[in-house]
Amino acid sequence: MIAPEFTPIASFGHVPDGFLWGVATAAHQIEGGNTNNDWWRFEHAPGSSVAEPSGVACDSWNRWREDLDLIQDMGLNAYRFSLEWSRIEPSEGVFDDAALGRYRDMLLGCREREIKACVTFHHFTLPLWLADKGGVDCEDFAPLFARYCGVAVGRLGDLIDVACTLNEPSVVGMMGYLLGGWPPGVAGDLAAYARATDNLVAAHRAGADALRAGPGDFPIGLALAIPDVVFHPDGTWDGPGYRVDELPPLEGPLNAIKRLMFDAWIEAARGDDFVGVQTYSEVHMGPDGQNLPIPEGVRMTQMSWTYTPEALGRAVRLAASATGVPVIVTENGLATEDDAERVEYISRALAALRAAMDDGVDVRGYFYWSLLDNFEWAEGYRPKFGLATCDRETLDRAPKPAATYYAGIVASSR
Ligand code: BGC
Repeated sequence: MIAPEFTPIASFGHVPDGFLWGVATAAHQIEGGNTNNDWWRFEHAPGSSVAEPSGVACDSWNRWREDLDLIQDMGLNAYRFSLEWSRIEPSEGVFDDAALGRYRDMLLGCREREIKACVTFHHFTLPLWLADKGGVDCEDFAPLFARYCGVAVGRLGDLIDVACTLNEPSVVGMMGYLLGGWPPGVAGDLAAYARATDNLVAAHRAGADALRAGPGDFPIGLALAIPDVVFHPDGTWDGPGYRVDELPPLEGPLNAIKRLMFDAWIEAARGDDFVGVQTYSEVHMGPDGQNLPIPEGVRMTQMSWTYTPEALGRAVRLAASATGVPVIVTENGLATEDDAERVEYISRALAALRAAMDDGVDVRGYFYWSLLDNFEWAEGYRPKFGLATCDRETLDRAPKPAATYYAGIVASSR
């Protein structure tokens, strides 16, 4: 429910030339019919913990023009979407020219509508052939990723405006090897998590080199989950808290987790053209790095995350100071059935972003997650992150009031 006294900001104020105002999506969450990847298999495994299969998703593989029209109608100048590796390289070393052609058409569609294309090369899904070799825990992961990036950029690079190599690699490892709720479904394997982190860091470097060697000249970075974490060494929610960048030296699992989830990725981003910041909420952790139970009465989202729009401002400041490179907010958003809550969230998150920019943080863009209500991984279709609905029967799209609100804020900055 929206706070009764809340009045959303009406204007963002001026932004630098070329500032990207966009929305973000990912292939598996909207395209539909991605049968040849590890997620599809995980969704359909007997006893799967995934709420429901992705199925036809939003059918964006066919309806991408409608998606781009929605973006154009909001007056946005940017769209972040991902390439589905399993479509482009359906078997090892075999590349599908028709799939690349479809992505080329989408990129041309962006150009026609004066929408800058921000392309992500890996957003959580892996081709089955690669999953069967060990996925991100396969020692050849980096060279295989670089080869795929090289082929894709060879065909598409002249139409790309911004590139993200990997999406939230720390989450890939955490969900796949520590919590086990995502493919490959392994829980508590810190050694595998560490190997996966090393492989993903190497893949980022090798992938970025491959992108730089191809046609086009565009900024390249990582899209990182920048957790707005409060660590509580005494293990209580209200006890003494330290944010991730001010954590005192501690022995044991907390530091291991901090190093892997945060330091490794900040370090990896340092040589990049920008760092993509993805922040949704605030996380409270105890001395062993475990999430603390959330007290009664704390305002929550449909994802069972705290409703903390201001987390974005803290994450952006942290990412900028820790990496020293410009920031693009590559994802930020809210899952709710109540669109007034979404307006409030966007307003408060953007006010926090504005304050960071006014304090000198070099922010080059903001992408709301997500364009459409879509397939929210293990949660299925229940959480509603979209600025537009996507009817599960007809797949018709319709903008929500928050889309009008966001469009107005964007217009106010020009
Ligand atoms: C991911 C998206 C996801 C969103 C909301 C991010 O972690 O990149 O794929 O839908 O958060 O959970």
